[in-house]
Amino acid sequence: MPTSSLQTRLLAWYHKNKRTLPWRDHPDPYAVWVSEIMLQQTRVETVIPYFKKWMRRFPTVQALADASERDVLNAWEGLGYYSRARNLHKAARVIAREHGGTLPRSVDDLLKLPGIGRYTAGAIASIAFGADEPALDGNIKRVYARLFDVTEPVDSPQGEKMLWDIARQNLPKGKAGDFNQALMDLGAMLCFPKNPRCLLCPLRELCKARATGTQELRPVKKPRKSVPHHVHAAGVIVRRGRVLLAQKPSKGLLGGMWEFPNGRVEGDPAGELAQVLEAGYRLKVQRKEALGVVQHAYTHFKATVHAFRCDLLEMSDVSALQWVAIGKLGEYPMGKIDRWIANALLQQTAT
Ligand code: ADE
Repeated sequence: MPTSSLQTRLLAWYHKNKRTLPWRDHPDPYAVWVSEIMLQQTRVETVIPYFKKWMRRFPTVQALADASERDVLNAWEGLGYYSRARNLHKAARVIAREHGGTLPRSVDDLLKLPGIGRYTAGAIASIAFGADEPALDGNIKRVYARLFDVTEPVDSPQGEKMLWDIARQNLPKGKAGDFNQALMDLGAMLCFPKNPRCLLCPLRELCKARATGTQELRPVKKPRKSVPHHVHAAGVIVRRGRVLLAQKPSKGLLGGMWEFPNGRVEGDPAGELAQVLEAGYRLKVQRKEALGVVQHAYTHFKATVHAFRCDLLEMSDVSALQWVAIGKLGEYPMGKIDRWIANALLQQTAT
């Protein structure tokens, strides 16, 4: 008896077991696009409430194109990797202007939009438009690296190429959208990075890594460089119910978002605070009590921020700074660290 194919088994499993997700079977390619951008580097459970709120707030490409950057960053706050939100916004403006508000259908045209790379273009073309296109995300790479026992590091150019070739060769014609999502669900529901549930897997008899017992060793990754650790001191400068915020430059990490004036320190954060605020913002302050210490791991470095309340002694350059009523801090988009400081300040102010 011939064994049924990878495609037949996986699609049958998917139709029985697929997750119910608000963007699935959604008729609107815009919804598929938004979900795919949110799902980059972010777990499905985290994304669901953001996605629902986003679609109420910006229901169409045109609504997103018409929104201000601040509203867009506010709706994204907490999801991280904020260039995704800025690119989504920019791309909506391009689509409104050049494509009459409708997403382009081809991978080549999708790839020209800000924030859309090979994975996202393939996902949108296959899921929203039914095109025969592969889409390789982290889950699918892991699944294929195990199914074909790929020994090449998946994050090397050779490994990448090998996996895209495998993904293209295995695509069932006319069913790529479901098949790509089936691979994603298999990766998320059974083919875990650690302790994969091989006994429940519909592909267990076809899996080369399982046959050789190497499933826990796949995918192979290049050795990671250790990430640097930056320590910052931040000043929480309050005057008459308002606090001083700085806006980050629009390019780069957390671009356009707001933060408490801060600077990198080499040694004792309390001792260096006044000096870094003077160097970075021409602010003269008197340090008072500590408000807290916050840590966050970004992709390429780890940051620890020591926040201190300060009295303002002198402020000579107001252009980059803004006084914000403490009760209005929620209206200013911030990264995780600064939101933690803002919430600590709000709590202390309320009690
Ligand atoms: N991860 C990224 N895109 C996804 C999708 N469409 N379904 C499930 N998981 C995903």
